[in-house]
Order: sequence, then C-alpha cells, then structure tokens
Amino acid sequence: MMSDLLNLSQISPVKPLLGRTRWVMGNWKMNPLTVQDAVMLAQGCQQRYAQCVETYPQCRVGIAPGPLHLVSVAQALGHLPMDLIAQDVACHSMATGAFTGDISAPQLHAAGVRWVLVGHSERRLVHGEHSSVLEAKLQAAIRAGLGVILCVGEQLHERENGQAQVVVLAQLAAHLSSLQALSTAQVLIAYEPVWAIGTGETASPGDANVMHGIIRDYLTVQVPHLSQVSILYGGSVKADNAAALAACTDIDGVLVGGAALESGTFGPIIEAFATAMV
Ligand code: 13P
Repeated sequence: MMSDLLNLSQISPVKPLLGRTRWVMGNWKMNPLTVQDAVMLAQGCQQRYAQCVETYPQCRVGIAPGPLHLVSVAQALGHLPMDLIAQDVACHSMATGAFTGDISAPQLHAAGVRWVLVGHSERRLVHGEHSSVLEAKLQAAIRAGLGVILCVGEQLHERENGQAQVVVLAQLAAHLSSLQALSTAQVLIAYEPVWAIGTGETASPGDANVMHGIIRDYLTVQVPHLSQVSILYGGSVKADNAAALAACTDIDGVLVGGAALESGTFGPIIEAFATAMV
C-alpha cells in the first residue's frame, strides 16, 4: 500500500546503528478491564523482559497502562527495569490544583512514570488535540522531568493523496523549537501510520524504514543533535513481523498496541528487537 508514495529505491543499505538504543513499548490503551488483570499483564511482560535484559542491555522495554492502573502496576513492578509510560498528561504545568479530570506531569513523575505519549493519533483524532495542545503537553512533561514519545503519522486519505511525507514532517515541524531544546535522552519519535493502527494492515518493513529515514534526515538538518534519536514504528506490530521490522536500519524500536496485551505475544517482539542487536 505504501509503495505508491515512497520510492523504495530510497531504502538505505545496511548502516551501522551507531549505538542507538532499541525500544519495545506496549501501549495498552483502554485495556484491560481490571487492576488485577493489569498487574498480571505487567508481571508477565516483566518476566519476558528479564529473560533478555542481561544478555541484551541495549534493548529497553516500556509499558503504558491506563491511568487507573498506573500506580498498581508501578508498585507491582518495584525497581525492576521496565520503563513506565503514561498515555496522556495534562496540558499545563501545575502540579496540583483545580483541574477536574487532569493528571499532571509532576503527579506522573512522582508515581514513577518515565515517559509520556504525546500526539498519538487517537488523541489527535478522537479528542481533537491539535499542535498547540500537544505542544503544551510536551512542555509540561519536559518541565516535570518526563521523557516524551512524540507520535506522528498520516491518515489513509493523506497517504492516498501522496501527502504522507508532508503530513508527518509538518507534525514534527509543529514542535521544532521544543525539539531543539531536547536531548536524545528526553525524546523518542514514534511513526504510526493511522491506517495501520489496529487494522492488521502493517506498513511493509521496507516502506516503514523509508519514512523513518525521511524523519531522521529531517531531524539531522533541523535539529542536528537529535540525528541519532530513536525512531519507533507502530501499527499492527505482531510477533510474526517484528523480526523483519527489527532488521531495518532506521527502525530502532516499536510501539505495540494489541499485541502488547498478552505477554505471550509481547515477549517474542521483545526478543526480536533484543536479538537484532547482534
Ligand atoms: P496496534 O499495534 O494495535 O495496531 O496499535 C498501535 C498503536 O496505536 C500503538 O500506539
């Protein structure tokens, strides 16, 4: 589906990874139903990760439970090395106060959260979050000491109209001045084509790699110190396509939805990215 837009001849030949960290991150979205199920899932993921982490320390794993489950999951994981991710954050920098329904960045930080998703297409499209709100969330997260996973990706009609690259680069450009102030330890980019999310329709590894290369080239020019930022792919990542994605030179990790909801399907994805280092 993607090859009508992007020139596959642009796929870069094998390049060294230059020591970029590999990431496998699970976005649980509004799942599972109960706190107990969330804790059990987290423990299962932690077990799978523990089997890899000593041998492959350059692969890191994170999970993003829903807000109701975050604290119980953090407590259950203790000091084990998985990163805790929040799916959303309030769009202001107040730590506490009269903000009904909000969870502040300092509250997330205090609860043991390390990263926050900003710009996921479900926030952009379902909740109408535009770049000004996303920018405020990004700023709030950074001020509180959280890292940001900035999600970008085009919709199907944009891809079909040949606009994929323009849309993705515009989504990055909207946060350029913030990105210029961040280090590679503070930000990850997640490329998630909207048409591939939850549909079973995955961007082919080669095509995803091309878009990752475009993102990296853009950052190399606009924010040179982020030229080696890790860029994750998201959209119907499964155990059976993870190894092919992990073999791509510009795909440094994945943001996994549905397949992150069982340790039995998340585990092989971790293993694919961990072993791709060698
Ligand atoms: P799926 O893996 O279910 O397609 O979801 C991807 C996603 O949206 C991760 O943030």
